Amino acid sequence: MRAHITGWGRFVPARVLTNDDLAQIVDTSDEWIHTRTGIDERHIASDDETTSSMALQAARQALGVAALKPSQLDLIVVATATPDYLFPSTACLVQDALGASRAAAFDLAAGCTGFVYGLSMAADLISSEAYENALVIGAETLSRIVDWSDRATCVLFGDGAGAVVLQASGADGGVLSTVLGSDGSGANLLCLPAGGSREPASHHSVAEGRHYLTMRGREVFRFAVRILPAATRRVLERAGLTLADLKLIIPHQANQRIIEAATRSLGVPPEVVFSNLERYGNTSAASIPIALCEAIEKERITQNDLLVCVGFGAGLTWGATAIRWSVPLPPQPISPWRRIGQRLRYLYAAARSLIRRWLRWLLARGTNWQDTDRHTSHDE
Ligand code: COA
Repeated sequence: MRAHITGWGRFVPARVLTNDDLAQIVDTSDEWIHTRTGIDERHIASDDETTSSMALQAARQALGVAALKPSQLDLIVVATATPDYLFPSTACLVQDALGASRAAAFDLAAGCTGFVYGLSMAADLISSEAYENALVIGAETLSRIVDWSDRATCVLFGDGAGAVVLQASGADGGVLSTVLGSDGSGANLLCLPAGGSREPASHHSVAEGRHYLTMRGREVFRFAVRILPAATRRVLERAGLTLADLKLIIPHQANQRIIEAATRSLGVPPEVVFSNLERYGNTSAASIPIALCEAIEKERITQNDLLVCVGFGAGLTWGATAIRWSVPLPPQPISPWRRIGQRLRYLYAAARSLIRRWLRWLLARGTNWQDTDRHTSHDE
């Protein structure tokens, strides 16, 4: 069995923050940001948007393209560094909203490499025949952990989500090989110091701004430039393929200069490497699935093409996946009837969730009454 990508979807908030907008907040300029990073604008979540709400939108799209019912999912993985809560997992919130009644669900923390880690885990579980259908999502609300007074970091990041459906099939192609790596000695290079169990939230931690991400930019830059080409070469080697076989590399979208340096180091033409960070900034675990969706929309991928998704990030972590694209493109348009069916299914999922909460509340009240009765008769 091989894991094949059969559905994909992406979501970004409507609100756009340009470099000029940022120059009103911190001491920076469009010229500095564009030349140092390649970023022109990024999308920022509104107050009522969360990592789970964006993940849900991307997931619904992906399931629609795959023509798969949520109840057919065996597994939901949400790769994120900005979950709605430390627990429960964002994946469980998505599972509930989708009505994916059979699915196991968990979050995966591997920084910006999270989506590649998730893809690899899900593909292995499918190849081992443990599961048939998996949903892998990368989703982030980085705007909530960025220090908007720190010009060295706030200009880099954006919010959004991307998702893919993986399905088991004996057909050729799909996920061919993966490479994952980590080096925790670089943990301090990209870090969210407070809010975890080491330094729980306190007046002190908030006053010192230790709930904002910190980054040693130059060191991360050097690491990225080295690891992107190395992981790409290694994953191709594992699949028994070479750079000459490659149609498209979809790298983590962190900095255009990193992408260009990796392109030079690999010796591939620039058109082989996909980039869209000028409009999204770095959306961490969401950047690769968002870029994959855009590459499909821009007809940069056709059936049987060989792709490599390659990422790096906090941890430090890195990872790459080689994929032989196996489904026909463009996808069949979703018929209005199927769209109505999907909408009804999600309404049913919301009603089902509400009824379950309500029953649980009733049950808890019933138990409380019984306990009160028992105590009263005992006292008597
Ligand atoms: N606007 C204007 N000036 C800025 C600035 C901004 N937004 N941010 C930093 N500067 C200034 C610095 O203060 C410094 O000034 P100084 O020389 O007077 O001290 C100068 O620009 C150079 O700073 P430096 O940090 O050396 O810039 P750089 O060329 O290394 O670029 C990054 C900074 C962050 C763009 C770059 O290091 C980078 O992209 N690193 C990787 C980050 C990354 O990918 N993180 C996510 C990983 S998943």
